[in-house]
Amino acid sequence: MIKTKILGHRGAMGSAPENTLPSFRKAIEESADGVEFDVQLSADGLPVVIHDEALDRTTNAEGPVNALTARELRELDAGSFFSSEFNGANLPLLKEVLEVIQDMDIINLELKNGNIRYEGMEEKVIGLTREYGVFDKTIFSSFNHYSIKKIKEIEPAARTGVLYMAGIYRPWEYAKKLGAEAIHPFYAATVPEIVEECHKHDMAVNAFGANDDSVIRQLLMMNVDAIITDYPARAREILDEI
Ligand code: G3P
Ligand code: CA
Repeated sequence: MIKTKILGHRGAMGSAPENTLPSFRKAIEESADGVEFDVQLSADGLPVVIHDEALDRTTNAEGPVNALTARELRELDAGSFFSSEFNGANLPLLKEVLEVIQDMDIINLELKNGNIRYEGMEEKVIGLTREYGVFDKTIFSSFNHYSIKKIKEIEPAARTGVLYMAGIYRPWEYAKKLGAEAIHPFYAATVPEIVEECHKHDMAVNAFGANDDSVIRQLLMMNVDAIITDYPARAREILDEI
């Protein structure tokens, strides 16, 4: 029996505006086991949930996310870009997202700090997950591998996932060096040999970019630990068929 978990990418971004509360509610409705989402810091240092470093693509404002305070960001419309049905869906604070998803089984919090240095971000996200009682079911991931290491140094009990697109040689060894429990590879970099070796070395594999039916099927057959998908309902249907 395949035990792969389904994580909704930025909520359920295939059917609702990414990283908004409606998107997280949709993922719950689509029976995802958990969700993945992106965290950055506002100008006044509060964790907010948005993918891009600029506001332009997904909100009714322009410029860098970290130029506005949390209060200002919270007022932005992050729904209209997707469809008028979602007019007025706000850009959420991390704590608002945690309130909505706190009963899900898995939370994958991605620190979006690859290009911007967000001072104290690691301490802040750990603190909020503890405050909302979800620390034990959170996987902290990042493309910034220094940040992965830092999370572990601050809080050895935190579970971490090493995000990458391609090209890490023996990723289970690399991830162990960072103290991580999981690798989070792009689906195209996820092959059976790597999944098998990871499992032998007690390393979980949570693959992202699993959106096409054929890709979802292939990853399920590889027995990855989780897939991160824009379409949780579609993934659930395929999983139930196998
Ligand atoms: O965490 C998996 C995936 O979300 C990483 O890529 O650009 O969608 O944040 P991106
Ligand atoms: Ca992400």
